[in-house]
Amino acid sequence: MSDGSEPRDATAAADPRAARVSDDSEPRDSAVAAEANIPGIDRARDDLGLRPSTTTNGPPAGASATDTDRTSGVAIGSAEPETRRSRRSRSASLTPNPTHEDDTMTASTEAADLFRRATGREPAGVWSAPGRVNLIGEHTDYNDGFVLPFAISQRTAAAAALRDDRVIRVTSTFSDEAVEASIDELESLFPTPEGTTPAVAEWAAYPLGVAWALRQAVAADGAPSEAFERGLDIVFASDVPVGAGLSSSAALEGAAAGALNDLWSTGLDAKQLARIGRRAENEAVGAPTGVMDQMASMLGADDNALFIDCRTLDANLVPLGAAEAGLEVLVIDTLVKHAHSTGGYRDRRDACERGAAALGAEALRDVAVDDLARAAELLDDVTFRRVRHIVTENQRVLDTVRTLREHGARAIGELLLSSHASMRDDFEISVPELDTAVEAAMAAGAVGARMTGGGFGGAAIALVDAAAIARVTTAVERAFAEAGFTAPRIFTVAPAAGAHRDA
Ligand code: GLA
Repeated sequence: MSDGSEPRDATAAADPRAARVSDDSEPRDSAVAAEANIPGIDRARDDLGLRPSTTTNGPPAGASATDTDRTSGVAIGSAEPETRRSRRSRSASLTPNPTHEDDTMTASTEAADLFRRATGREPAGVWSAPGRVNLIGEHTDYNDGFVLPFAISQRTAAAAALRDDRVIRVTSTFSDEAVEASIDELESLFPTPEGTTPAVAEWAAYPLGVAWALRQAVAADGAPSEAFERGLDIVFASDVPVGAGLSSSAALEGAAAGALNDLWSTGLDAKQLARIGRRAENEAVGAPTGVMDQMASMLGADDNALFIDCRTLDANLVPLGAAEAGLEVLVIDTLVKHAHSTGGYRDRRDACERGAAALGAEALRDVAVDDLARAAELLDDVTFRRVRHIVTENQRVLDTVRTLREHGARAIGELLLSSHASMRDDFEISVPELDTAVEAAMAAGAVGARMTGGGFGGAAIALVDAAAIARVTTAVERAFAEAGFTAPRIFTVAPAAGAHRDA
């Protein structure tokens, strides 16, 4: 069975973006790599004893949950077959409800509740997937490198049930528009041509893109079940902040992938679903991102960070040990919104590819810290600094994994700080609000701090003594006020479970 990351037709293969995406997401055989001339960084990775992993492949998303009726689609009043292109989405009469109505309401119960109101029937199940914080390893994922994210407790939930027709109808609490597309239309909606916006509302391009990528992945082997030919109603609710660098997009993709995989009985595992989510983001939404967020969202686990080799997709749990060290992870959301489908992110990615090509490397993962002197001679200043960030960041991820294991969370502060400096000075993806957050947190006694995620806005994290949370929070708020910035949103996070079926 294909995993959905390879271009399936001549059009996709001819699209340079599609080809690049395929290259990045195709795991290479580690045995082959082992026989080849292993660059230093791979030897360092092997020294950590972290590959290959069999522990975090995970069951098919949702496999652990109670099986509910998957084929009970009853007649749906509003569900006449839809053949129009979905860009003419229909308005629904639902009011967005960005916050839960009461404290006992989770994204999961909210999605189920909205599902009942929107469709007049019970969902067949509810699936959810978390956002993530990246502890360290920024922009290394699309360079075949290393990352160390963890899933957080904020989740996006999808309440869903099959329909009797071929319409996929997505509704959410973050838009007052329901969007519909027939299964038969997906091929004409996606991929989204480079430089254009998706043919459907952007939020809907995530779940419909997942449906498209998932169907492409399994269709080659023939429809796996009768259910595969049926449409669905899917209703989303989320408590992952959007645009905060906490990967609300991967959470949305993961929740959609879990629901579709179970209801269509496609039986894909968590890594395959992560790659399908990434393909949706790259080719349906048009954001040229790596696979870190989807992997973290699908495979995260309580108390653990996830060390991912983005070349092989080997993934190993690494205990964060923050609580044992008396520490907490503080998120400082600057409320400066970013979008990775535009400008800076793509530009950084291009610079990395240019640098790798000039150095004769398949990817920057294959360039070691020792190669940087040669790189300085060959590359222009900007490209060199982009390359230096990736090369040193890969090393910092390995160093962080080792340090966490040998000395605990309190010992990784310097690594977090150097990572931030490298993103600020070499990769140039920080913004004044993020620098202020890091500096103010450190001045108030944080153990370490850095911006997290794609940059150009979003959030910073700070590793802080549990007893100092209030002091650091106040100090950061004060620094923002003094600089004339919008007051940040500050909260703690802890490593939480990855995607699963909730009901
Ligand atoms: C975004 C992307 C990820 C990764 C990070 C930067 O979150 O979605 O793939 O590239 O930026 O590390």
